[in-house]
Amino acid sequence: MRSTDLILCLSDGEFHSGADIGLVLGVSRAAVWKQVQKLDALGLSVESVKGRGYRIEGGLDLLDKLLIDTAMNQVARSCVHRIDILHSVESTNSYVMEQSADNGGNVCLAEQQTAGRGRRGRTWVSPYGKNLYLSCSWVFENGAAVLEGLSLAVGVALVRALEACNLSGVVLKWPNDLLWCGRKVAGVLLEVSGDATGRCQLVVGIGLNVSMSLRDADKITQPWVDLNEIALANDVPLPSRSNIAAEVLNQLLPLLRDYSEDGFSAWRDDWMSLDAYRGREVRLTSGVKDEVGVASGVDSGGALLLERAGKIKKFSGGELSLRLLED
Ligand code: BTN
Repeated sequence: MRSTDLILCLSDGEFHSGADIGLVLGVSRAAVWKQVQKLDALGLSVESVKGRGYRIEGGLDLLDKLLIDTAMNQVARSCVHRIDILHSVESTNSYVMEQSADNGGNVCLAEQQTAGRGRRGRTWVSPYGKNLYLSCSWVFENGAAVLEGLSLAVGVALVRALEACNLSGVVLKWPNDLLWCGRKVAGVLLEVSGDATGRCQLVVGIGLNVSMSLRDADKITQPWVDLNEIALANDVPLPSRSNIAAEVLNQLLPLLRDYSEDGFSAWRDDWMSLDAYRGREVRLTSGVKDEVGVASGVDSGGALLLERAGKIKKFSGGELSLRLLED
């Protein structure tokens, strides 16, 4: 018996007796019990009640390929080469990066990442069946220079995807963190391989907190929020993870398709209107030297503009981190 079969069986949140599960999956009750213990290792807490059986309280909103396909629009569908939905993987970014670079539009979503990666060498907390871990590749023929500002544009696309789900109030922290009331709900990790001056493959990795348990959130080292809380505050139902994933792809894929033509200029105004720190005193940390100034938006290539003593300085690069000065 595969653990995925048991998870699927328990995903409805109802009690199932060991005997019933065994019958459906063609194994003994003892084998069911053994497999239940393994689910605990995935971070899924299975309740076991004598005389009633096993259940996952509240059930699980598992990713559903058919639902994602159906909720994607025609344009997004035409950009996809393949969509893989995995049970567990080290990192969806690494998975997509390892696939052939002959095609762009390789999409991977996973229920869980065992070594999810964030920016600046951080770990991305990726518990089973709770959030979205999504990566998508795209091939650019004429070098990495055209990618300038792309990570910021992805942030805008994500905010649009959330708005399409009626989840409003999310803003952007340079370069591409999504914040709600000062707390992080999503992050973006871009990785490029191949020829920096010719054919290169980009992987866009998106981590979006949908429904984080407090137990899992213990491992997060910065203020965080999930879409569950944002939906409550907006007084709207939380869409399924598959629906959210489809909305993300509906925004992301056309962006990737058109970016070498459009560039960041098509996205700059929207990024500026979503800038969480515009006009605020901030500290920019590179690990070597801190810079303090007033956040003054971004330039035409997505570089951060800091104003200090009447002078504007530009900053770009993936290893920089921005904080409000009063934090
Ligand atoms: C950040 O630090 O803000 C970026 C987080 C990016 C996390 C996502 S989850 C899907 C993809 N796979 C990874 O290993 N990382 C990215």
